[in-house]
Amino acid sequence: FSYPTPELQAELKRTAEAIVAPGKGILAVDEANDGIGKLLAAVGLDNTENNRRRYRQLLFTSDKSLSDHVSAVILFDETVYQKTDDGQSFIEVLQKKNIIPGIKVDRDVVPLFLSEDEVTTQGLDDLAARCAEYKKQGCRFAKWRCPLKIGSHTPSVQAINDTAQVLARYASICQSQGLVPIVEPDVLLEGDHDIVRTQKVTEVALAAVYKALNDHHVFLEGTLLKPNMVTPGQGYKPKSTPEEIAVATVTALLRGVPAAVPGIAFLSGGQSEEEATLNLNAINKVQLKKPWTLTFSYGRALQASVWKTWAGKDENVKKAQAELLKRAKANGLASLGKYEA
Ligand code: 13P
Repeated sequence: FSYPTPELQAELKRTAEAIVAPGKGILAVDEANDGIGKLLAAVGLDNTENNRRRYRQLLFTSDKSLSDHVSAVILFDETVYQKTDDGQSFIEVLQKKNIIPGIKVDRDVVPLFLSEDEVTTQGLDDLAARCAEYKKQGCRFAKWRCPLKIGSHTPSVQAINDTAQVLARYASICQSQGLVPIVEPDVLLEGDHDIVRTQKVTEVALAAVYKALNDHHVFLEGTLLKPNMVTPGQGYKPKSTPEEIAVATVTALLRGVPAAVPGIAFLSGGQSEEEATLNLNAINKVQLKKPWTLTFSYGRALQASVWKTWAGKDENVKKAQAELLKRAKANGLASLGKYEA
């Protein structure tokens, strides 16, 4: 065994800390082509490379003040190589705004045979080579998501162990290539379970993930966690308040996430824009120990209003960009516990 070289440790730590700088979080725009295709269809556009490019151009060419609240953006493979109408690469546009580009490197899920509808995430085989290529293009971090479903008998031991092993191998490979791994075990919101169930499942999943990261010698100071918030299933009534969600979420994280991890950036996972902001704000206000920065890595909760306002029309680009800035600012404040509805 050996630790990473001091230079590699310093680089990874610097990147991880920059991503979770105070008051800032991550804009996740790493929808795969079929995912963004559904959003394009909803505004009457075909799922072409150019339409996907036009939408992401809208986001990346927003005013420079975006970087007051957004430290980093998660890209999808195709986006790494795309350019603005006037020929600047998206990566350069982001770098000029002082926003760190990152890349989704998982290749989505396939069924775990004979399980109760559970899945595993693919993409490890050629991962080192892909990380090296993305690093060359200017990416400094990566993201990999493993969803876990809550059902009467799930997540199974098999699914939890698989998630932990896959995330640990992914994190280790990323660090070998100088990319900070964002580790995303996502306990899904679907279901009618109560918040106690979500909290326990989240605690069990985090414990397994950090045991595996330790077994694989992952340098925790050069990683970030992207977890679900602890909420009841979306079919459960009554809903919990942001304060209840904050206590359950921070309690679960305290039990499972080592203090060496510099930051935790939540996924929004189907919460509305305002809910995701209020919950993050409450999480940052709760009177419990918080050894890590707690911020956002939102996809849907930063983009829902942008899609609605853009509606696929060039004349709406400016207004849609204003919506992005509004959500980014709200979440930036929430990451400091200073948001007021
Ligand atoms: P949501 O915030 O829409 O859940 O997306 C974040 C993400 O990166 C999903 O993997």
